[in-house]
Amino acid sequence: MKGLYEDLLDYAASDYYPFHMPGHKRRLQSFENPFSFDITEIEGFDDLHHPDGILLRCMEEAAGLYGADRTYYLVNGSSCGILAAIHASVSTGGRILMARNCHKSAYYGVFLKSLVPSYTYPQIMPDFGAFGGCSPLQIEKMLTEHPDTEAVIITSPTYEGVVSDIEAVSKICHRHGCVLIVDEAHGAHFGFQHDFPESAVLKGADLVIQSLHKTLPSLTQTALLHVKGNRVSVEKLERYLSVFQSSSPSYVLMASMDSCIRYMRDEGRQAMEIYAGRLHRLRKNLSEMTGLKILDSHKRGTCDIFDMDISKIVISASGTGRTGRQLYDYMLDKYHIQAEMCTDSYVLFMTSLADTEEGFRRLEYALLQTDERWTSGKEAEHTERSDLSVSGQVMQRPAMMVKPSEALEYPMEEVPLKDSAGKIAGDYIYIYPPGIPLLVPGEQIGQQALDRLLCYQESGLKVRGLSDAQEKKIKVLKDT
Ligand SMILES: Cc1ncc(COP(=O)(O)O)c(C=O)c1O
Repeated sequence: MKGLYEDLLDYAASDYYPFHMPGHKRRLQSFENPFSFDITEIEGFDDLHHPDGILLRCMEEAAGLYGADRTYYLVNGSSCGILAAIHASVSTGGRILMARNCHKSAYYGVFLKSLVPSYTYPQIMPDFGAFGGCSPLQIEKMLTEHPDTEAVIITSPTYEGVVSDIEAVSKICHRHGCVLIVDEAHGAHFGFQHDFPESAVLKGADLVIQSLHKTLPSLTQTALLHVKGNRVSVEKLERYLSVFQSSSPSYVLMASMDSCIRYMRDEGRQAMEIYAGRLHRLRKNLSEMTGLKILDSHKRGTCDIFDMDISKIVISASGTGRTGRQLYDYMLDKYHIQAEMCTDSYVLFMTSLADTEEGFRRLEYALLQTDERWTSGKEAEHTERSDLSVSGQVMQRPAMMVKPSEALEYPMEEVPLKDSAGKIAGDYIYIYPPGIPLLVPGEQIGQQALDRLLCYQESGLKVRGLSDAQEKKIKVLKDT
């Protein structure tokens, strides 16, 4: 049996095209043998946990590029930045308002700091089944109802590229004395070209977390935490960054971040210009499809969508009677195009400025041809799916019976998933990607939520957090 490295090299030599992370697309930016400069904190190379030399200068450069007051390098992805941001902004046991479509790392922050979460539920786009933006009005209402809220965390852009009105949300938060944390993990490429949204850093957010690796040419795990203003104690933030980051931060990763920042500073705007042109052509041609449907930027102004990131190519298969899983598999098997993820109704193809002209043409050809095949002639699917608007992210509003950190301390039992309605969830239940919990420990499992989970399984999606390998059992709080 070959090792992982050999398998990866074989894969790299194949003709599979990556419409997924990381944003360097295995081509833009390259290093000599990484072993040759993989060091530890030796003389002259500073220390990420106490920077006063080259790393400090690198982080200042990044702050300058994004317009932040301070920027921290993250070597454990946006996940560690989100954990540190939450810990630095809310006192132990305090209250946080979070968008229900936050990434699981935000939920883990809530668990670790024993926080009481309140949720704002973004609307679901009826034709796509994906989340819209966060409603400033809803946030205002929630903060008025819960004046003890210390911080608000929202995801903008979402995985699918939906941007919320950060300026409005930040004004509301600050009026209520709250810190605004924006998970901008999918928006490190924002602000470099006018067809893309502006970063939350310039829209009033206090802490903004971006994964460089998701949308820019930088190695996996590299991310940034930006600070604006002085609502959050820098001392606390740095303490928590030390808790959640490795004590041996990789110089290979940090060199990758610095290369990425320099690239964006020197060549980024021009590269983004070419990239935007390619995206516009692709989107225009894909708008001709009749069965498959592209999520377009005309959604602005509906479902609290303030802006859309044009880089995310989200294609719904619902109009062809197929599932997102079927489209995902078809693109992979027939065209060797690897998408980022699928839900039961759509597929997400992630593009970046490192994509080639050829890559764009392959994607366009594959989707147009598939649309043609699936809507006419013998491959047309005539069976109507019963619940085409359901996506991996549609959710009910489960009642929180016990706070997450307490629920996880309760005695647990395993019950068959199909019989779990009315019980209280003992684990995070989610589809990955995107890693947004459908159920959080301590929440009551409603019949509708359960039906959704069973429906996701039926459509080929993997439900994570169940307690057996066959995904038939769920951990619940004992005697509930
Ligand atoms: C919205 C969002 N936030 C945060 C994260 C975590 O980012 P990272 O993988 O850089 O830790 C992800 C990962 O997919 C994400 O989609």
